[in-house]
Amino acid sequence: MNAATLNVDIWRGTETGQFEAFAISRREHQTVLDVVTEIQREHDPTLSYRFACRVGMCGSCAMVVNGRPRWTCRTRVAEVVDASGRLKLEPLRNFAVVKDLAVEMTQFFDKWKEARGFFEPGPAPQADFAVVPPVSRERQAADAGIECIGCGVCYSACDVVAWDPDYLGPAALNRAWTLVNDVRDQIRDARLNVVSGSDGCQACHTHMSCTTFCPKAIAPTYSIAGLKRAVLARSLRVVR
Ligand code: SF4
Ligand code: SF4
Ligand code: FES
Repeated sequence: MNAATLNVDIWRGTETGQFEAFAISRREHQTVLDVVTEIQREHDPTLSYRFACRVGMCGSCAMVVNGRPRWTCRTRVAEVVDASGRLKLEPLRNFAVVKDLAVEMTQFFDKWKEARGFFEPGPAPQADFAVVPPVSRERQAADAGIECIGCGVCYSACDVVAWDPDYLGPAALNRAWTLVNDVRDQIRDARLNVVSGSDGCQACHTHMSCTTFCPKAIAPTYSIAGLKRAVLARSLRVVR
């Protein structure tokens, strides 16, 4: 093998298809997204993939790289290339494939809506800013999950999503947890009702794949554990 050559196998097709091999030059500091972009521009303009910001903010560039879900704009080839110098790129798992490396995100974001993953100020929001001390327990819990970029890496890594396509999944549940801790929000009970259903937080078996792979170092596993505690605490209050 030429040391300056990078061999890349890329999934072509939808649910059915095959890998296609490309060879491009290795470059210092090259990212996986650089590789895909070069192949699309120089070798095959019909290759489909998705990106926007290239700096780890938009969440659109995630793929499976040598077997693991990753954001590709912030993943250097040198970190992930295998011992034989190959890169294998596939679309995210647990999503329908639109074409090649581009996946359908609609169901993923519909689940955010289903989990009430939006701020609800109620019919009469207070006019002034809420004062939420940075050291408060609620603020710290919300801050721990707030930097999610919606990349789908955790969802792709979760085997409960693979078994149960209706499971809300780590990203939607993490978002719900940030809102359960938002002291301004007015639909805490409705949100806890939804996330405590059979496709909600109780379905998580805590094996941590989401937390292991999240590129933003968020721990959806802990957010989901927080939801389980909140649901339990609320039911004990109701029973008493
Ligand atoms: S900890 Fe829960 S949500 Fe995260 S990957 Fe495992 S089962 Fe899925
Ligand atoms: S929790 Fe992490 S892995 Fe999941 S969508 Fe958000 S940023 Fe991506
Ligand atoms: S292109 Fe925006 S996060 Fe990678």
